[in-house]
Formats: sequence, C-alpha cells, structure tokens
Amino acid sequence: MNKSANYFIEKLNLQKHPEGGYFKEIYRSKEIIKPNALPPYFDGNRNISTSIYFLLKSEDFSSFHKIKSDEIWHFYQGSPLTIFLIINGKIVKLLLGNNLDNGESFQQIVPKNSWFAACVNCPNSFSLIGCTVAPGFNFNDFEIAKRKELLSNYPSLHEKINKLTKK
Ligand code: GUN
Repeated sequence: MNKSANYFIEKLNLQKHPEGGYFKEIYRSKEIIKPNALPPYFDGNRNISTSIYFLLKSEDFSSFHKIKSDEIWHFYQGSPLTIFLIINGKIVKLLLGNNLDNGESFQQIVPKNSWFAACVNCPNSFSLIGCTVAPGFNFNDFEIAKRKELLSNYPSLHEKINKLTKK
C-alpha cells in the first residue's frame, strides 16, 4: 500500500517549515567555513554543508523565498513537483520526479540568490524530497518574499506570485 504524507511526517519527525511544507535537518557538517573564505554576502561562519528531508502536500505550496547557496533538490517519494524560479524577470520551471520520460529529473539545482517556489503536480498527493546546500543552511541566509514587494518588482508575474506567496 502507498504510504501517506502523514506517515512520513510522523516516521521522519518532520516539523512545519516557515516557507510551507514540513522538514527535518538530517545532516550538518561539523566542519566550519570562516567568513574570509566565503562570498561577501555571508555574515559569519557557516557549516560546510547541510541536508534536510522536505515534504510538501498538494494542498500546500513552498512560497517564494531565496537562500544564498545553490540548493540541490532530490526526489524520494510521492508525486512529481514543480520548482518555479524567477530568472531575469521570467518564470523558469524545473520538474523534480522519477518519470524521466515526462521530463522529470531525480535532482534539480536551484541557483543561489534566486526567488523560487514549489508545488506538487498531482492533486491529493505529496512529494517527499531532500535538499542539500553548501555552504550549509542558516536562517540568516533565508528570506521569504513579501507578496507586495515581489509584485512591484515583477508585475508581469502576478498570477504565479499571487498563487505562490502567502498574504
Ligand atoms: N534547513 C531549514 N530550512 C532549510 C531549507 O529551506 N533548506 C535547506 N537546505 N535546509 C534547511
């Protein structure tokens, strides 16, 4: 029998994420990188790498946000998912999933410092994925988009922005 979203949330002890969905950090390297070895937009020490489980239900979405590291998304279970990037003022879609004949990939790369959001492609389902970042994740490097600001910067993307930001 297929496992449910709630099965994975309980089994993996996932917690609510501020961007939407549920997550649990499963790896944080002990090694630290000092600011002088990092790009200037980092404000302090960072772990070399981190990794999380992330689960998104189809009735939810990951709202537009950005981080300062490239983020590698890995597909594990459930429905495919679409990542929406804003690149040069346009929406670029990345398909994460296991149906290679449908243009999906097991891994997708979200470029650093780019606004992005995600949603599950099939109704009444969920996607269970992993996210790995280097330098490691730190909430100081994480920003959730304000709908008004994103709309004023990208008025032509209003449909996607209204759908994939929280009020
Ligand atoms: N740890 C807490 N939140 C996140 C996130 O959004 N991405 C990654 N990679 N790690 C996190």
